[in-house]
Amino acid sequence: MHSTHNTKSNAPQAARSGAAVKLLALLAATGGGLLLYREGENWLRSLLLYLARAGWARSLVTGFPPAWRMASRFVAGESLDEAIAAAQQLNGRGLGAALDYLGESVENAAEANAARDQILYLLDRIEAAGVDAYVSLKLSQLGLKLDENLAVNNLRMILQRARQYGRRVRIDMEESALVDVTLDIYRRLRHGEGFDNVGVVIQAMLFRSEQDVRRLVEEGASVRLVKGAYKEPPDIAFAKKADTDANMIRLMQMMLSEQARKNGVSLAVGSHDAAIIAATNDYAQRGGVNKQDYEFQLLYGIRRDLQEQLAAQGHRVRVYVPYGTAWYPYFMRRLAERPANLWFFVSNLVRK
Ligand code: FDA
Repeated sequence: MHSTHNTKSNAPQAARSGAAVKLLALLAATGGGLLLYREGENWLRSLLLYLARAGWARSLVTGFPPAWRMASRFVAGESLDEAIAAAQQLNGRGLGAALDYLGESVENAAEANAARDQILYLLDRIEAAGVDAYVSLKLSQLGLKLDENLAVNNLRMILQRARQYGRRVRIDMEESALVDVTLDIYRRLRHGEGFDNVGVVIQAMLFRSEQDVRRLVEEGASVRLVKGAYKEPPDIAFAKKADTDANMIRLMQMMLSEQARKNGVSLAVGSHDAAIIAATNDYAQRGGVNKQDYEFQLLYGIRRDLQEQLAAQGHRVRVYVPYGTAWYPYFMRRLAERPANLWFFVSNLVRK
């Protein structure tokens, strides 16, 4: 079974009060973190990204109903029905969807295969509902950290099913330790086995990405370009946001270049940053690139106004829609991106 964190379970009273004490400690730590953040420190982001991977914090936070109320701002629901309904609503607003069955770093082959089966079923449901949606997934969810072949076999089955329906699949990019193997697997299936319905993600925060993009441009890849949501050491990633932003613009320009378009590169810019979006439109306009030849992608629950504004301007817009019970690490990464979210979270908890 996929690792689930059902918020509706009835924990015994003693465990609850123990959890409440730990939670208070957690809140004190994050509250202190907020103060330090205000002093210009960046370690709150690091703390939240650390907590995203900490099992003890996961059971604490997911066992606390107000946490789900907060997370549900970023997650369409715990069920597939809710995800399909969200995709239908987005389509009704002129937006596409990328559905993500939440889960990562599974602990055994049975969990990896269960995730694969859920994603196969997701494809069936997307097809049956006739929604404009594709699937995003993480290779660690399909067993990559346990056995590379397990993940490859699971991904192959998913790509076959998607191809049967004329649908695309995007492999999300995870922490830097997985970048090489993720790109290798992508190439094995895209070029070795001829699946032309698979795409990847590149993170602008990594130094290596320029090199990766150069090769992906030669190969005519389908790429979602994002800033990067994981904690990375300064010897491999830009420490300053301004440097990541500048690199994102450089990489965007490489993938919208005339040569890239000739090679068949398909670019999706995954960002809510108005400056990055404006730079993309500006570069496209100057290069005579049609609005329909690239896409903007935004996350569910973030900058809905911008989603609609871009669509109204005639841009292709797709919203990434996560769903499922394994929402904890995804939620923590969203908190880390924007500390103001944490204020809402903490004040919500305190009110309960
Ligand atoms: P930035 O962080 O500069 O934010 C710009 C503005 O957007 C903020 O000022 C705020 O208004 C709004 N905003 C951003 N994040 C917010 C949040 N959490 N809550 C509220 N408002 C927020 N990463 C990765 O490592 N691998 C991946 O596969 C993906 N996939 C992916 C898909 C899609 C469709 C998107 C949009 C993003 C990803 N990401 C990702 C996440 C990405 O790396 C990055 O962490 C976030 O997009 C935040 O960066 P922005 O580009 O939005 O800029």
